[in-house]
Amino acid sequence: MRMTDLIEKKRDGGELTTAEIRWMIEGYTKGDIPDYQMSAMCMAIYFRDMTERETYDLTMAMLDSGDRIDLSGVEGVKADKHSTGGVGDKTSLLLCPMLAACGVKMAKLSGRGLGHTGGTIDKLESFAGFSTSMSMETFLRSVNENGFAIAGQTGQLVPADKKLYALRDVTGTVPSMPLIVGSILSKKFAAGADIIVLDVKCGSGAFMQTEEDAFGLARLLVEVGRHAGKKVVAVVTDMDEPLGNAVGNALEVKEALAALKGEYAGDLLELCMTLGGEILLSGGIAPDEASARAMLQEAIDSGAALSRFERFVAAQGGDPAAVRDTSLLPRAPVVIEASSRRAGYVRHIDAHGVGIVSMHLGGGRATKEDDIDLSVGVVLKKKVGDHVALGESLGTIHAASEEAAGEAVMLLRGCFELTEEPVHRAPFIKGVVR
Ligand code: URA
Repeated sequence: MRMTDLIEKKRDGGELTTAEIRWMIEGYTKGDIPDYQMSAMCMAIYFRDMTERETYDLTMAMLDSGDRIDLSGVEGVKADKHSTGGVGDKTSLLLCPMLAACGVKMAKLSGRGLGHTGGTIDKLESFAGFSTSMSMETFLRSVNENGFAIAGQTGQLVPADKKLYALRDVTGTVPSMPLIVGSILSKKFAAGADIIVLDVKCGSGAFMQTEEDAFGLARLLVEVGRHAGKKVVAVVTDMDEPLGNAVGNALEVKEALAALKGEYAGDLLELCMTLGGEILLSGGIAPDEASARAMLQEAIDSGAALSRFERFVAAQGGDPAAVRDTSLLPRAPVVIEASSRRAGYVRHIDAHGVGIVSMHLGGGRATKEDDIDLSVGVVLKKKVGDHVALGESLGTIHAASEEAAGEAVMLLRGCFELTEEPVHRAPFIKGVVR
């Protein structure tokens, strides 16, 4: 086979065979196919698309490029969750303990963040001593004993995605549906769970900007999952503003803990109720949606989810006292309010822009080697639909210096779009594809 022929075939709208896709992914992973040829292929796929069968073959070829985690030693319903990416997304910190308290097992692999804010691992390192590097044996034992554990991703899991994602990132080919499906599902299949819920973001801050595209991606994810014998559910959610109110590592941990303590109600909790409900239904743990929600609410009200989180932090070497007393988490020396220069109703909050504010404060990384400041970030005081009076705070800035705080105030103001007319807030959950 020759890569040139495959590129031309796809460029002209042809359908690649199973053997061709496998040969291409194997060759690219091994380094036999150079980046420039794979870039051309990604662009051809971006414009010409792939059929469902090609997308399935791509996913399975990527899955076979590396190791898989064997969860056969974990008892019970094994679930996993993934989000197509969001600013302020601390869902796993809340969802894992809530589900663990309902009897679900989650063996979660997470990464560090590159860009606006930290990833789940960075956020968890807000607990002094917390570690995500452990042997596979310890990881699986923790999952069995406490219901969930979160480990760093290993190098051997889907190496094809590591190379391909880095290439797509610099060639304008990230927002291609078959490439997104291959990337997400190969990683989820390699992680071994039977039930996978996916949060597909839709809106100005997401890969999929229209509802039509977001539902198209959701359907493709579910179909390819079904083909592979997995239960995949995709929830399409709005991303016209950051998720929850906090953006920044320790600040997000604090918000997740507030939710686990029953002190928070908003889009973040609604998302966890929906994603968690789908897992309880798919796993046969709850008979219907109402009972699933009741079980998840009880996990919070009884304190069971919070206890699970406390045990999880202790099991991975972190200071569990900070779970109950959040003043022990990293705290920024400068805390100021970003007052509004106008009055009006919030029509839109640029989620990406808020992420950039947090990054400027030192909460995100520009390169993999950068250190991040866990204490800094933004806590929004206003969300879409809220009224803002002149001089009222749009959000609280947590910064390392007065100077950084002053710049962040200006940047945050620029993220808010205000209007004189009252704003009707669109439903946060746009739909579920099962
Ligand atoms: N998330 C992923 O893991 N891969 C993509 O391609 C897009 C979002």
